[in-house]
Amino acid sequence: ELESTIAAAADLDALEQVRVASLGKKGSVSGLMKGLGGMSPDERKVMGPALNGLKTDVADMLAARKEILEEAALNARLASERVDVTLPVDYGVQGRIHPNSQVMDEIAEIFANLGFDVAEGPDIEDDFHNFSALNIPEEHPARQDHDTFYLRPDADGNRKVLRTHTSPVQIRTMLNKQPPIRIIAPGRTYRSDWDATHTPMFHQVEGLVIDRDTHLGHLKGTLEAFLKAFFEVDAVTLRLRPSYFPFTEPSMEVDVQCSFDGGTLKIGDGNDWLEILGSGMVHPKVLEACNLDPNEYQGFAFGCGIDRLAMLKYGINDLRSVFDSDLRWLRHYGFSA
Ligand code: PHE
Repeated sequence: ELESTIAAAADLDALEQVRVASLGKKGSVSGLMKGLGGMSPDERKVMGPALNGLKTDVADMLAARKEILEEAALNARLASERVDVTLPVDYGVQGRIHPNSQVMDEIAEIFANLGFDVAEGPDIEDDFHNFSALNIPEEHPARQDHDTFYLRPDADGNRKVLRTHTSPVQIRTMLNKQPPIRIIAPGRTYRSDWDATHTPMFHQVEGLVIDRDTHLGHLKGTLEAFLKAFFEVDAVTLRLRPSYFPFTEPSMEVDVQCSFDGGTLKIGDGNDWLEILGSGMVHPKVLEACNLDPNEYQGFAFGCGIDRLAMLKYGINDLRSVFDSDLRWLRHYGFSA
């Protein structure tokens, strides 16, 4: 009887019930074993081995059936969890890399190859880092040029600003580490301005090199290497135009030679000049504000509008569209990840 109930147990639970009903404490086989105590010695001699044999047989049958059911359960699970690795993958909606992010990555990579680290500073700056340490004291006319966004003054009357350029990162870097310094600082900058070439939030990348014998030739060589790599041309001709920034002396604006044949920009040679960035040798007063001795250390700095570089390289004509977050625009100008 047990042989057929064991064979009929459809799953492991049913089999366990059969085990309890036969070999369990109150099971039928255990009941028969208990009966041995009340038998005569002669009966016991016959029935003892017989019942022990029965017990072993039942245990063996249970174990065999258990093995079969376990394997069946495993196979059922494997079948239900099967993954068809040949099915095509659904990528869903994929975002695109904004041309500005792309250009910032390109710039960081070019300068990394030249041995520059990437430095950062806060968007909300104080007067010291954004202005006075950069040799732009209160009442300096250059302050007016910047169309600064001021935050509400704190209890002590100090007004924080949204940084008007990435130059405060120069100050933070020089105050925090000793020369030799070679950094770029890409990031957001803010000025109250709005037209086809100006947005109140825009991006710059700052460059700063401070060492013992740094001179203008290093600045020019660095910018040439950068612009050649960025515009993917074999040669660039630079024009260094004397200019004025309070924090550099001498100061110069840098143009690259180019042509606009048929509306397409070609960097390299041609009869036009494209203004790319502001630069100069770090002013001794700026070094002093950062506790560096100008007789021991010199260096150069430059600041460059990233959005404009992105527009030039990727043929975007209205800066305002760059920050509209129009999906059609992003799909058109964005880069795949
Ligand atoms: N901070 C300047 C600007 O925003 C650019 C600049 C940076 C010029 C470093 C010289 C040196 O116009």
